[in-house]
Amino acid sequence: MDRIRIQGGVPLNGAIPISGAKNAALALMPACLLTGETLRLSNLPHLADITTMANLLGRHGVGMTLNGHAPGGQAGRVLELTAARISDTTAPYDLVRKMRASILVLGPLVARCGEARVSLPGGCAIGTRPVDLHLKALEALGAAIAVEGGYIVARAPAGGLKGAQIVFPSVTVGGTENALMAAVLAGGDTVIANAAREPEVVDLARCLVAMGAEIDGIGSGSLRVRGQPSLHGADYAVLPDRIETGTYAVAAAITRGDVELVDARLDLMEAVARALADCGVRLSETPRGVRVAANGHVGGIDIMTEPYPGFPTDMQAQLMALMATAEGASMITETIFENRFMHVPELVRMGARITVHGASAIVRGVPHLSGAPVMATDLRASVSLILAGLAAEGETMVNRVYHLDRGYERLEEKLGACGARIERIKGEG
Ligand code: UD1
Repeated sequence: MDRIRIQGGVPLNGAIPISGAKNAALALMPACLLTGETLRLSNLPHLADITTMANLLGRHGVGMTLNGHAPGGQAGRVLELTAARISDTTAPYDLVRKMRASILVLGPLVARCGEARVSLPGGCAIGTRPVDLHLKALEALGAAIAVEGGYIVARAPAGGLKGAQIVFPSVTVGGTENALMAAVLAGGDTVIANAAREPEVVDLARCLVAMGAEIDGIGSGSLRVRGQPSLHGADYAVLPDRIETGTYAVAAAITRGDVELVDARLDLMEAVARALADCGVRLSETPRGVRVAANGHVGGIDIMTEPYPGFPTDMQAQLMALMATAEGASMITETIFENRFMHVPELVRMGARITVHGASAIVRGVPHLSGAPVMATDLRASVSLILAGLAAEGETMVNRVYHLDRGYERLEEKLGACGARIERIKGEG
């Protein structure tokens, strides 16, 4: 297994290109199952999770062509997906266990084929993460749901799914995406109340509209869908990754550097920008993206993770690494996932002063972190250790980098181009 070695202490300076959003792409790709025509997605990031989703769609019979780069110099890859015929409606355990987002084929398969069998995702390093709300939404649309042999089996009634009122008791990104993809092909109107407002949900809704869906209230907590008998193909560009953007903004801040994030969008990350501004980091729009400058003092702040537009749980670990080096104390409260402080013991091994009390962590900033061998159990926890390593004195070795490869494209290259002393060591780890 590969490892990443960092010699810390270099302020980052330069430009980092931001890729297409992983979590948007993982919802946009299964949308191809809703039509027999071609869905052409550009600005697709090159990541292990995207390959896993492509493999899953391939099992369902989706034809795919990867066309390198889009015309006009836009970064990212272009993938054409054509589900002319769906040959198999089963999402097998070996793929679903690798990536929970596989559950996003459930809604479109039931809507288009009238049935689907998707393996239950099972446990996950950041909490139990049930899918009950996805299933309740499909039941509201008339699907019969059973669990058989570890698989969710969903069947639409004889006349197909029927529009309904879906009220989510709590905000769920994936649940909203599954409900939306099922509702666009249901008969009649659907209202999704307490819908997730994350930019990735908005991106999916806009792509569905480009495919012929009728959706009102996009970007609000109440989505109204008028079901269509069929959808058609479309060309759609994946929005830039706000979590990758936030991560590199923290990389600039934690090294007290100055970096331009090319193709980044400040309007997608207001809560993160506000948090960084509160601790003394300057963010500004440039003609190409966003500039992050932190050559002065970085102070502690209190944050709480919340559904969008609140502070994202996917930035919690990275902000904690920054707070570990800030002047003063900070309190970080995680309200979305239980058990999402797996990075804390590793940061502590690097000299951070952090204590966890239930869902809150108290972070007392230290003047210097020190490099250490570390390892993490999920994607954002792993990247928080990279960030800490960039700031630490001496050498940090991050093990189990396959987590990073799920969500960060060319991480060493992007950071190295701004002066970071970072390298990947291939092989055993
Ligand atoms: C998505 C993102 C993930 C991000 C999360 C929250 C993708 C591929 N992943 O995950 O990176 O951290 O949103 O912004 O887009 N819940 C239930 N029952 C359900 C569904 C969810 O209880 O049926 C709970 C979860 O356990 C969690 C909360 O709801 O506590 C939010 O989860 P959700 O928004 O569904 O996250 P994902 O869509 O899995």
